[in-house]
Amino acid sequence: MKKIKVAILGTGFMGRVHLEGLRRTANVEVAGIAGRTLEAAQKLASGFDVPKAVTDYHELLADPEIDAVHVCTPNALHYQMSKDALLANKHVLCEKPLATSVEASKEIVDLAAERKLRNAICHNLRFYPMVQQMRRMIEDGDLGDVLAVQGRYFQDWLLFPTDWNWRIEEAAGGELRTMGDIGSHWFDLAEHLTGLRVSSLCCDLQTFHKTRKRPTGSVQTFTQSATPGVDTPVSTEDYGSVIFHMGDRARGTMAASQLAAGRKNGLMIEVCGSKASVAWSQERPDELWVGHRDTANSIYIKDPGLMKPAASLYADLPGGHSEGYDDTFKQIFRRFYASIADPSAPADYPQFADGLRGMKIMHAESESNRTRAWVDVAK
Ligand SMILES: NC(=O)c1ccc[n+]([C@@H]2O[C@H](COP(=O)([O-])OP(=O)(O)OC[C@H]3O[C@@H](n4cnc5c(N)ncnc54)[C@H](O)[C@@H]3O)[C@@H](O)[C@H]2O)c1
Repeated sequence: MKKIKVAILGTGFMGRVHLEGLRRTANVEVAGIAGRTLEAAQKLASGFDVPKAVTDYHELLADPEIDAVHVCTPNALHYQMSKDALLANKHVLCEKPLATSVEASKEIVDLAAERKLRNAICHNLRFYPMVQQMRRMIEDGDLGDVLAVQGRYFQDWLLFPTDWNWRIEEAAGGELRTMGDIGSHWFDLAEHLTGLRVSSLCCDLQTFHKTRKRPTGSVQTFTQSATPGVDTPVSTEDYGSVIFHMGDRARGTMAASQLAAGRKNGLMIEVCGSKASVAWSQERPDELWVGHRDTANSIYIKDPGLMKPAASLYADLPGGHSEGYDDTFKQIFRRFYASIADPSAPADYPQFADGLRGMKIMHAESESNRTRAWVDVAK
């Protein structure tokens, strides 16, 4: 079978994670990498025997051998890079968030549909085996009717005013930072798990550090700068909390923070139903807490032999063999490339339309915070 050739745009945290994930994907070959500097692109490419390293991604889009593109650059570049890739007839897998506005997201959703190209938004957190177990329990009615969805996504890597990353700048990351960077993953999970849509919300945002020290050199995600910084005003939020309605009846609360000391990648989500509750925490990914009113609560440990059949398809390893963050990329890539290899296959992964959905939620969050009022999320 002919291998599907892929280009990766971006050489940072996600560029490397995608490259490694693609090396675990059958019938796929990484044919090129684009970086902001040639040195970074060459370094990543040479370590993995990738034949082409460039600084201008258009060179990779012009290569007729390349079938698909992964966009792993700062948020403000997603729209243009995805659009250019679609116009060059490439399938596109884009990191989240899809763009920095509803209008731009809608444009590339429509373009992908018009061109009949496969498109995915990298909400990889759906692909943890126990997230899928939770989803199937809700779908099968094990929880009864969904009454409440609650949780948080807390990290601490931007706690100090000396911490810096491109996400802090609105021009590179978009108007919303914490709600866009990690809140978007939480809401994608909430809707994916319950099958319900957030219909309206009330959001409160806070920027604790109104000024940060911006380093003179660039800083890799999740790392500290070695160079001293200069005082720079900050408009993007460090923290956000949202109360929301899901569908007609269910209610929800969530908060996201990048200033929560000790919380590294602390996503927690809990769904309370009329019969039972379930809760999952990203930092203990193989466990699922199940809560009952009349019997003892229990902890499920990931084991494909004991999981719901549809959820067990997301677990590659036997019980006791943990599957974590890195494995979620393997799972989404596998499904994306299976759908490219077989045009009749369903898209069993989040698509650009889901990215547009996330952007509508973010738009409502921003408006609610600005007007201090409840806002309906556009359908
Ligand atoms: N799905 C997830 O779990 C997850 C996790 C982290 C980040 N992300 C997303 O991935 C994207 C990248 O984030 P990151 O943490 O990897 O950032 P990063 O700063 O580590 O890497 C960004 C890379 O983009 C490169 N770049 C910038 N401009 C470029 C250009 N014009 N051409 C080619 N390369 C260019 C930079 O050199 C850098 O290597 C963001 O959109 C972020 O939201 C997703």
